[in-house]
Amino acid sequence: MQTPVPDYLHEVLDTLREDTSGETAQYIPELANADPAPFALSVTTATGSTYCAGDTDTPFSIQSISKPFAYAAAIIDRGLDRVLESIGVEPSGEAFNELSLEDGTNRPKNPMINAGAIAAHSLLVGQDATGEARVQRVLDMFSSLAGRELQIDEDVYRSELITADHNFSMAHMLRNYGILADDAHEVVSGYTKQCSILVTVNDLSMMAATLANGGVQPVTHEKIIDENTARQVMSVMAVAGMYDGAGDWLTRVGIPAKSGVSGGLVGVLPDQVGIAAFSPRLDSHGNSQRSRRAFERLSTDMDMHLF
Ligand code: DON
Repeated sequence: MQTPVPDYLHEVLDTLREDTSGETAQYIPELANADPAPFALSVTTATGSTYCAGDTDTPFSIQSISKPFAYAAAIIDRGLDRVLESIGVEPSGEAFNELSLEDGTNRPKNPMINAGAIAAHSLLVGQDATGEARVQRVLDMFSSLAGRELQIDEDVYRSELITADHNFSMAHMLRNYGILADDAHEVVSGYTKQCSILVTVNDLSMMAATLANGGVQPVTHEKIIDENTARQVMSVMAVAGMYDGAGDWLTRVGIPAKSGVSGGLVGVLPDQVGIAAFSPRLDSHGNSQRSRRAFERLSTDMDMHLF
């Protein structure tokens, strides 16, 4: 069946390609040296049809886009009440790498910032899980969500671990406050592997479409996430997925979303679509510049704003 959607997506990419502002993430050597040129866009419906354009075969590390999906896994593995004991659901209003702990409880304010995502990773599988089991858990889950077997980019992992002192120091603070029970280095190492899982825009739009579809993968029909957990994850994406730019994003674009420092951006419209964009140059908030603009276009042109 012919559809005008791919032509439209190509047009969006062609219009925005001339925007070469921003630069690749500089604090991770392997990402700093990444090719800044690729640009891709993918939309997967909750019924499993994917429309895409641009460099859709280019793999990149998932980075912070792993956080909502790992949060879902932690809730499935430990229950929402246990996860809420360790991680809040409030916007931090600060950058992704600030500690942003809640007064009184010392919980990281939400699971989208690094501190909250490190805590979420530590909750995977079960109380006495090994570091390897936690990494395998996210790799298996992300593979089910994408509908194909994903892999870890060992070069990105090693490169990021060498410069991970900031995350190590936050993990030690979390241990100090009793939020992290496990070895700080082992948890950060596992979290960094989680961030180094390689995906394409089509993988990400399929993963997002699974959330949009209430946790059922639209092509394999596997129920990966229960409906309440999918709702919890999409709610937190709306509140905090774009960090200190979350309010501006939700009012302007109106799509619960999550960005990553390698240049990916995913959005979810409940019961409708998962959307993903990829372009490695980042704006001052650490979000992909062209991907952000592509989402703004889609939201306006297709009236995707939730409200
Ligand atoms: O922990 C880090 O700093 C990276 N692995 C992920 C950060 C990230 O993607 C922030 N998102 N925009």
